[in-house]
Amino acid sequence: MSLTSFDRRRLLQWAAISTGAPWFVPAARATDVDRFALGIASGSPRADSVVLWTRLVGADLPPRVPVQWELARDEAFTQVVARGTETAEAAWGHSVHAQPRELAPSRSYFYRFSALGARSATGRTRTAPPRGANESLAFAIASCQRWDHGHFAAWRHLADEAPDLVVFLGDYIYEYAPVAGRVRLHEGSGEATTLAQYRARYAQYKGDTDLQRIHAAAPWIVTWDDHEVANDYANDLADAAAPDFLARRAAAYQAWWEHMPLPPSSRPVRANAQVFDRYDWGALARFHVLDDRQYRDHQACQKPGRGGGGTVDLAACPELVAPKRTLLGNAQEQWLGDGLARDDVRWNLLAQQTLMAPFTWTKEGRFWTDGWSGYPAARERLLDTLAERRTANPVVLSGDVHCNYVADLKRRPGDAAPLATEFCGTSITSHGMAQARLDPALPLNPHIHYARSEERGYMSFRLNPQRLEATLRVVSDANDPHATIRSAARFSVEAGRAGAQVG
Ligand SMILES: [Fe+2]
Repeated sequence: MSLTSFDRRRLLQWAAISTGAPWFVPAARATDVDRFALGIASGSPRADSVVLWTRLVGADLPPRVPVQWELARDEAFTQVVARGTETAEAAWGHSVHAQPRELAPSRSYFYRFSALGARSATGRTRTAPPRGANESLAFAIASCQRWDHGHFAAWRHLADEAPDLVVFLGDYIYEYAPVAGRVRLHEGSGEATTLAQYRARYAQYKGDTDLQRIHAAAPWIVTWDDHEVANDYANDLADAAAPDFLARRAAAYQAWWEHMPLPPSSRPVRANAQVFDRYDWGALARFHVLDDRQYRDHQACQKPGRGGGGTVDLAACPELVAPKRTLLGNAQEQWLGDGLARDDVRWNLLAQQTLMAPFTWTKEGRFWTDGWSGYPAARERLLDTLAERRTANPVVLSGDVHCNYVADLKRRPGDAAPLATEFCGTSITSHGMAQARLDPALPLNPHIHYARSEERGYMSFRLNPQRLEATLRVVSDANDPHATIRSAARFSVEAGRAGAQVG
């Protein structure tokens, strides 16, 4: 007997009413809800494993739902190399974080999920090369995809490039309330502060087909910035100081983990989550993924009764340069120093949130306190570590400031030779400042080679043992879902010679 979905729904409604049976699981099969409406993703790639992610949706989901996953060498799934079942639990938003292990290195794989009679789309992922291998790498950095500041066309264009890897540097969601008149509107009625609200915000973003496309195209390595929780938050303090901030942070951290292709081992415990980690790409590169939000000192010289950042004159804010101030926290700083002392990879890529290069707005020194320029002693310690431990080819990858910056990092401002190179990618959509505001400050910051605040997009990189090539990819109009893409600039870094060269 075959029932139409309408018949089936009627029958099941009747069954549910007449028995009230919560065990009647097939009811979940009868809905027209697309269980995989939030898409799929993969991430945290290692030489022998990768994380496969999805999250089931639907108001009628049972508390625990078995979800099958498959990983195959081919898109038709004729050569399945691993399969298993995970339980999607209501307590964790019905998210799934499968972690097939003992995979072959340097391999492309296809994956998909099935649950409650439905099957997900198919995604493509890959494992990292084995230890010692010097295979080249194509990757991209991106950050800051504020929903109501544009469409995600940039993601579609990046998916077309089929990178090996996407490195996401924070602001996956914005917590803000909806603002009338924007090109798209945030769902809900207010700012996200509770677990339910953060989940709803992720669900909205993850419904975007261009975002789904890039997730299905390549594995991601992820970190976060402030807007996954609250604007400019620092450790236990948000910009609008609230007594229950750690409860909010716990809700936000949980929702973030539920929606990211991270392993079960990185599940947050209340308001704590270890995000900093290292990912190796054979002997070619090591990504040092940092968390500059959870452990940092509060921003210097905050206004009375307020948290968050601001722009301050150095002369009026001696606290800014206090030697003990930390952005990463002591434990993470120690961990990073240990990693930067190892000499088994060609390139060391620091995947982190915000512009590291000093940026002053005046000759006398005027700094934005939320970025590295608000923690100059911490920056100096990190640069000293790179110099003293002779870290091989350090390159800093950044986001947060909604502006494309390419900069040389010098150990001390007057030094002739750069010690490292920085690529700070602009936002996918989030608005930046006016170029006219930025321009007058650029002569004061001659180590910055490129600064364009009105560009939206991402940066694509090609890396081999000799050379890093960066292409700044910029969309024609972030308000246009059909925006085209162009290469706005190209830079390179030669191995053994820090500093960005044009072309
Ligand atoms: Fe942002």
